[in-house]
Amino acid sequence: MERAADRVVVTGASSGIGAEVVRGFAALGWEVVAVARREDRLAALAAETGAMPIVCDVTDEEQVAAMAARVAETGGATALVNNAGGALGTDSVETSSNDEWRWMFEVNVIGLRTVTAALLPVLRAGARRTGWASIMNVTSTAGHDAYAGGGGYNAAKFAAHAVTDVLRLELAGEPIRVMEIAPGLVHTEEFTLKRLRGDAEAAAKPYADVLPLTAGDVAAVIVGAFRQPPNVNQDLIVIRPVAQSSVFHVHRGPLEPRG
Ligand SMILES: NC(=O)c1ccc[n+]([C@@H]2O[C@H](COP(=O)([O-])OP(=O)(O)OC[C@H]3O[C@@H](n4cnc5c(N)ncnc54)[C@H](OP(=O)(O)O)[C@@H]3O)[C@@H](O)[C@H]2O)c1
Repeated sequence: MERAADRVVVTGASSGIGAEVVRGFAALGWEVVAVARREDRLAALAAETGAMPIVCDVTDEEQVAAMAARVAETGGATALVNNAGGALGTDSVETSSNDEWRWMFEVNVIGLRTVTAALLPVLRAGARRTGWASIMNVTSTAGHDAYAGGGGYNAAKFAAHAVTDVLRLELAGEPIRVMEIAPGLVHTEEFTLKRLRGDAEAAAKPYADVLPLTAGDVAAVIVGAFRQPPNVNQDLIVIRPVAQSSVFHVHRGPLEPRG
């Protein structure tokens, strides 16, 4: 069992990495607030883990303010995982749609900023109570290496990376650590399916004949970062499957020692 005061808010909790982060913290006895738009999924996760569900669209300032107020009223928080996000499309800069770019900026960048700004006073109160608070932003290796067809997703995740660094500078002197995790190829149920507009056959291809990361692999590293001593700030964690040696190199087939 962890310290009784630990309470974490996880956005994008209704599927994939976020849901596994909720499970990981709940298994350690942390209080968890699970935030996403799909009420039915949050209710199922709440029944399974004991997390408190809050239905909230992170791109809607009023909903985010209401979410933060509810977190404050129900026990506050000492930790935040900004995980809500996603990609739309793989079209070129020339041919992609501004609507898709706007969606990606709204959720991956502006949503992250809105949630962080709304919860900072709550986290500060948590830090006064317990001595510390922590923020983890889930970006992507797409926020560090550009690739053809990455367009709006690259741009949004590069921006989320920049926002994380700015925040760390701005919070200097406070007992609030600001961390980033940049995952590579993770096989989650919905991420690529949504990106490829529901084309299941195309969505299966990136994961064919390769052992990718699972949502549980990423969640374990996220949860582990929060369990480090509070003076330890893992500024940037890059996590890829062994079979992916860079954003451009995925080894398909079995991994075998040479020689
Ligand atoms: N899968 C990968 O290969 C991969 C790699 C690197 C980084 N990432 C990043 O990891 C994070 C999680 O991805 P995932 O693979 O777990 O994908 P996912 O299963 O599609 O999860 C995305 C989550 O974000 C939530 N969300 C989306 N828009 C939202 C909004 N406006 N307000 C509130 N919640 C919103 C979704 O819930 P609702 O629809 O219920 O709101 C869902 O719970 C994302 O930031 C993604 O960019 C993924």
